[in-house]
Amino acid sequence: EEVQVFCPATVANLSCGFDVLGLCLKGVGDEMTIRITDEPGVRIKRISGADLSLEVEQNVAGVAAVSLLNFLKPKVGFEIEIDKKIKPGSGIGSSAASAAGAVYGINKLLGTPLHRRDLIPFAMQGEVLASKAFHADNVAPALLGGFTIVKGYHPLEVLRIDAPDDLYVTLVHPKIELRTADSRVVLPAQLPLKTAVQQSGNLAAFVHALHTKDYLLLGRATKDVIAEPHREKLIPLFSLAKSEALKSGALGVGISGSGPSIYALCEGKASAQEVSRAWKLSYILNNIEADVFISQVNAKGTELI
Ligand code: HSE
Repeated sequence: EEVQVFCPATVANLSCGFDVLGLCLKGVGDEMTIRITDEPGVRIKRISGADLSLEVEQNVAGVAAVSLLNFLKPKVGFEIEIDKKIKPGSGIGSSAASAAGAVYGINKLLGTPLHRRDLIPFAMQGEVLASKAFHADNVAPALLGGFTIVKGYHPLEVLRIDAPDDLYVTLVHPKIELRTADSRVVLPAQLPLKTAVQQSGNLAAFVHALHTKDYLLLGRATKDVIAEPHREKLIPLFSLAKSEALKSGALGVGISGSGPSIYALCEGKASAQEVSRAWKLSYILNNIEADVFISQVNAKGTELI
């Protein structure tokens, strides 16, 4: 018996919600095939599209799968094949997609003993391997879809919000690989009180804007005073991309997760296309290879194909 799983890409942080906010992307993601085997345990049989380890303990999907099996203790085992479409180190939750896909698929094959929400802590174990940090702002939206809020880590509490209609996300991936672990070491361990207050104000306003479908407020709240000032120098053409997107009508712009991808929230498809055109031109003119694409918020999250 086997399942095929779509493992969506995600945008974490959304500027004002460092390690807290995330959204699930539509149409962008990995594909995974998971098969039941008589032999217990987990094997990664094949990975295409990225140069990643097949060693279970060195693979995000493997680590997440093992942590789920240690909890569920099934008599059978599982073999996993991964078609990576999301480039590792691109900033749109490549490792989270693998972790979420593995636990989701195994749970399905075992007859859905756990709700998808309960799979988050197991998927997080995979994220720890990739980023050396315990964060759920990619795995939560990957598993639940929509926008997610990590209310707290101890205990883990995740909330989900539907996306307003007509919200588009334009993304640019300047083709360098930036590991989350590396873009976390540039962050300060402590924050001035004033910075914490600014970030909380924006985060609260962002959530209010989602509930009231107030796009302009959503744009004004898309600000990052914690990570962006330290990370922007790691991202090719960040400040130009940001100003071009805002000039082209984006509601808000920021670093996608830990970068190097940059996201722009846009009202309507035409606006998302304007931003896409501006970014393509900026990166071409500056001779920097980049992928630009448009997506929307995916309400479903990880799902069977
Ligand atoms: N919140 C994490 C970070 C997301 O910014 O490091 C990584 O994708």
